[in-house]
Amino acid sequence: MSLTLSLSEYVSTGPRPRPAAPRPPEKPQQLLSLLWTLNKNPLEAWPQSHYEEPIVTGNTVLGRFAMVSSPDAIRHVLVEKTENYRKDDLQNLLLRPALGNGLLTSSGNEWRMQRRSFAPVFSPRKVTSYAPAMLNEAAALASRWRSLDGKIVDICEEMARSMLDTLATTLFSRGIGRDPAEFRRAATRYFETQGRIDPLDLIGAPAWLPRIGRLLSRPALKFFPLVVNAILEERRRAADAPTNPEDWDFVDTLLNARDEATGAPISEEEIAANIITFIGAGFETPANALSWTLYLLSIDETWRRKVEAESDRLLPDLQTGNVKIDEFIYTRALIEEAMRLYPPVAILSRTALHDHVLSGRKIVAGTTVIIAPWILHRHRMLWNDPDCFDPARFLPQNRSNIERLSYIPFGAGPRVCIGATYAMQQIIITIATLARHYRLDLVPGHAVLPVHRVTLRPEHGMKMSIMRRR
Ligand code: HEM
Repeated sequence: MSLTLSLSEYVSTGPRPRPAAPRPPEKPQQLLSLLWTLNKNPLEAWPQSHYEEPIVTGNTVLGRFAMVSSPDAIRHVLVEKTENYRKDDLQNLLLRPALGNGLLTSSGNEWRMQRRSFAPVFSPRKVTSYAPAMLNEAAALASRWRSLDGKIVDICEEMARSMLDTLATTLFSRGIGRDPAEFRRAATRYFETQGRIDPLDLIGAPAWLPRIGRLLSRPALKFFPLVVNAILEERRRAADAPTNPEDWDFVDTLLNARDEATGAPISEEEIAANIITFIGAGFETPANALSWTLYLLSIDETWRRKVEAESDRLLPDLQTGNVKIDEFIYTRALIEEAMRLYPPVAILSRTALHDHVLSGRKIVAGTTVIIAPWILHRHRMLWNDPDCFDPARFLPQNRSNIERLSYIPFGAGPRVCIGATYAMQQIIITIATLARHYRLDLVPGHAVLPVHRVTLRPEHGMKMSIMRRR
């Protein structure tokens, strides 16, 4: 297979900020310090060479691995030869306790049936129909902030709350069963406990040896079934369930899903797993993307003014339906650059099922193939000034300089994020609404540190002060 890596031709001018990121170690770490780093923050484990080479293979405590950053090889793994790989064990270990066999974690026929059944909820037409609800939620957030003018808030919490409220009026149109704040607390606890890579798992210790993270995640794991029960009970009580599939929300779609061949409904476990999957995936990743975007907006006055001006010009017309979301080109470029520098899903991983050759390297069956948007999006061979904040890369006139599959915040191929269009629309609407009314500034001295805990989040939250623009 040929390597098509080339330095992006994109050139931009002017001094650009270098936002917060851990400095990669120069060399791979020794066993004990690697175990410690993987538990603390896996982002700090990847050495410099991973950001420079198209593929790095090796043998560590994680077993055999291949870090793949060549777009050709990524196409092979995620798009063209998906049958040669499966989702890897470590990912399943972190996610399955909460997400069961939902769309994110299932495979084979189970996955195919789920994906086909849920696709209509995310069709372009359906996503456009969620825009008024998204605009209302963003306006509700902006009006709630009026009483916080001049105050300091944790933007991560604010964004999570707003994303959950949006889910509760779009995909889960009758609410998410419990107080969204309770769900957020349970999810955060899960990410902070189960979401940490446990050294005992890495060294292959027997399953009966207790893992601290897993013990601490129990309250969260007990809470999720309560959410499922509340949502399903509410549905059963409702006398006015829509009969026309066009009007179904995600829960109606789940309850009506049928196997094409047998006509059998989706199992109770799959229903429960997908309710938690779609609430979890549906609020956490967009909330992260929003928090990072607002952080980046606060460090660049030029882009702040561009995005404010665009919002002042277009938002009123978006609210009346006279403008399309695609016209927010500066806001979109800003968000895309935020997801380049801080991809909410920082690592995708698969297990190779057969021996094969990838980018000239032999990959034996059982190797963990890692495609890490965190590394790919900062790769020296693919990006000019990769650590600098420069949303102009994503303006329409510059986009053709970005090599396909060198930018994959939503993944690629058949398992690409099903909620990508929904998420982009929601994030654009939220940023545009906030930029029209407020300026946010990072609290002086607040340390911004990206950490990888299933998703990429700022370790100490994102403390920002809110100032009204008008
Ligand atoms: C900025 C926001 C988001 C980002 C960055 C993101 C990222 C991703 C990525 C990278 C994958 C592929 C994982 C892999 O290949 O292993 C994925 C899959 C998935 N995402 Fe998202 N996502 C976002 C928003 C959402 C939303 C809003 C929902 C639902 C409402 C959602 C639901 C899912 C599901 C169910 C899958 C599994 C798809 C499958 O395997 O068929 N995501 N997402």
